[in-house]
Amino acid sequence: MTAYPAPAWNADLAAEVVARHAGRDGALLPILHDLQAAFGCVPSQATPFLAMALNLSRAEVHGVVSFYHDFRDVPAGRRTVRLCRAEACQSMGGEAVAAEVLSRLGVDWGGTTADGEVTIEPVYCLGLCGVAPAALVDGEPVGRLTAQRLADAVAGA
Ligand code: FES
Repeated sequence: MTAYPAPAWNADLAAEVVARHAGRDGALLPILHDLQAAFGCVPSQATPFLAMALNLSRAEVHGVVSFYHDFRDVPAGRRTVRLCRAEACQSMGGEAVAAEVLSRLGVDWGGTTADGEVTIEPVYCLGLCGVAPAALVDGEPVGRLTAQRLADAVAGA
């Protein structure tokens, strides 16, 4: 995960990323992943830049960026928490835990705390249904989730 804050838009760096994938079929997706790795997000400047570089319309580029939920238009926080909202976790009180977590942090789904520390993202089944409700904290599973267990995992991980 890229540290918060990410570097400002840099057309030279973006051009280097595009050049890495020159001539490749389906270059847009790997370019977008590399841009997100470089900038911490896919900055708004990337859409017209890639449209020009790849001879696509801005709408085509925007359509791909907005279709894939992994692409962010602002950098994630230093820590990323993915909270499961699928059925098994819901049946074990996951929505109440999520509501408490969001309230404690003062963010909505997809939001980042004001200090840039934590981003909360929804996911739909992590394969951890047996220990629902579940979450990932920077990719590490946390089961039998409570708001306090999550706070401890974020603080201690
Ligand atoms: S439903 Fe939440 S981990 Fe499967």
